Amino acid sequence: MKDSAFDEMLEIYEEITRLKQLSDLLMWDQNTYMPPGSVGSRAAQNSLVTGLIHQRITSKRMGELLASMKESELSEQEQAMVREVRRDHERKSSIPEKLAREISKTEAEGTQIWVKAKQNNDFASFAPILGRMIDLKGQVTEHLGYAENPYDALLEDYEPYMTSREIRSIFGPLRAGLVNMVKKIADSGHEIDSSPIMGSFPKEGQESLSKRILGDMGYDFERGRLDVTEHPFTVGSMDDTRITTKYNIEDLRPGIFGSIHEGGHALYEQGFLEENYCSPLAESVSLGIHESQSRFWENIIGRSLPFWEHYLPITGEHFPRLKRYDPVDIYRAVNTVAPSLIRVQADEVTYNLHILIRFELETKIFKGELDVKDIPEAWNERYEEFLGLRPKTDTTGCLQDIHWAVGYFGYFPTYTLGNLYSAQILDGMGRDVADLHSRVKRGEFGEILVWLRSRIHRHGRMYPAKELIRRATGYELSSDHFLSYVKEKYSGIYGINL
Ligand code: CO
Repeated sequence: MKDSAFDEMLEIYEEITRLKQLSDLLMWDQNTYMPPGSVGSRAAQNSLVTGLIHQRITSKRMGELLASMKESELSEQEQAMVREVRRDHERKSSIPEKLAREISKTEAEGTQIWVKAKQNNDFASFAPILGRMIDLKGQVTEHLGYAENPYDALLEDYEPYMTSREIRSIFGPLRAGLVNMVKKIADSGHEIDSSPIMGSFPKEGQESLSKRILGDMGYDFERGRLDVTEHPFTVGSMDDTRITTKYNIEDLRPGIFGSIHEGGHALYEQGFLEENYCSPLAESVSLGIHESQSRFWENIIGRSLPFWEHYLPITGEHFPRLKRYDPVDIYRAVNTVAPSLIRVQADEVTYNLHILIRFELETKIFKGELDVKDIPEAWNERYEEFLGLRPKTDTTGCLQDIHWAVGYFGYFPTYTLGNLYSAQILDGMGRDVADLHSRVKRGEFGEILVWLRSRIHRHGRMYPAKELIRRATGYELSSDHFLSYVKEKYSGIYGINL
């Protein structure tokens, strides 16, 4: 028999979910159609909703309910809901209100200072507020607690139940493998012609192509929509999951792959079980798993040869000049590898090296082994070591990402975890779904989505990410699958033995 404390807990959690949905809508509106004059009232609305969410999850009543819960009387699913609500309650309650307010104030201030510092290549002007943010986050780690490394407490905000020790043991071999491959590709002297996807691609054509692909993937436009923003994102969940993309009329890649990437995030959010709606089991388990969904569709499917065998003729209807190309020309053009300084422009092979650098610096910062003033030099040294390039400015170096300005320490590793998970998913799916390649070549993604729905999406926060991946694919988390995937793919593209 179910405990009534459980029902009351879920009722409060439903309110929390509804408030989060409101907060999502405010954020979406702010980035799409909000008139500039509403900035002030929007900030007040945001802070009100955020405050209400915080009040509900940390409330005394919630604490009492969690304490009185008779978990042995609950089903396995219900126990998982309690575990996750308890986790949220304890983490949020452990941060003193004054500290939380100080952090959001520093975030807002930090963002403004960072924007200017990045524009003016002026790290010195950003250093004091970055130092303050690091100090505040250091206080957070003490309140949250950790077993070994303070950084772990921050990491858990984005990748619950993961430690930096585990990440380090996986990133080590990844680094060795990738550095070696990047070097071999550079030494080969082969250059891939990316001209087919450069030129003039009017926005209308890109938009209707994006919608066509998203529809084929199974994205439900009845429960979502596609708009344009400076930085693409996905927002919402279940019956209202919206995505945005950004079109570059001179380059086909950002728009199309931006749409597919966000489409992957959205399919995850649209794929929870109706019966779990407004509970933690209808929420994403971690940012790494979220990113595995976007990367799977964007890179593993969208940047594959069978994908372009299917979509080149369709793309040619929108952009007739592409009709003269062979699918393999497009496949190669969207898979060029070149070390670069800017993370968001990096290719599949070099991307993770950008992340490994950030992870290394972040862990050093929180161990007290790296001072703020020494960040630019430490950054530049590592770019030279990992990618063979040294940034000439901090704008193209340690000032390029907004994450640290808003205190997102522990966030970066989830991008790479997403890539690693996605390669394991490919291997697991390949074993279960016959003729994966020929399905993609026919533009049939139904079985792929069924696999993702049943193995990943439907579980929400039922299992920690590592366990979810092990159950879904049969493999423990490692870098092996990703390394074999890029090795095979890029050996073919570059005609060398990686
Ligand atoms: Co993403």
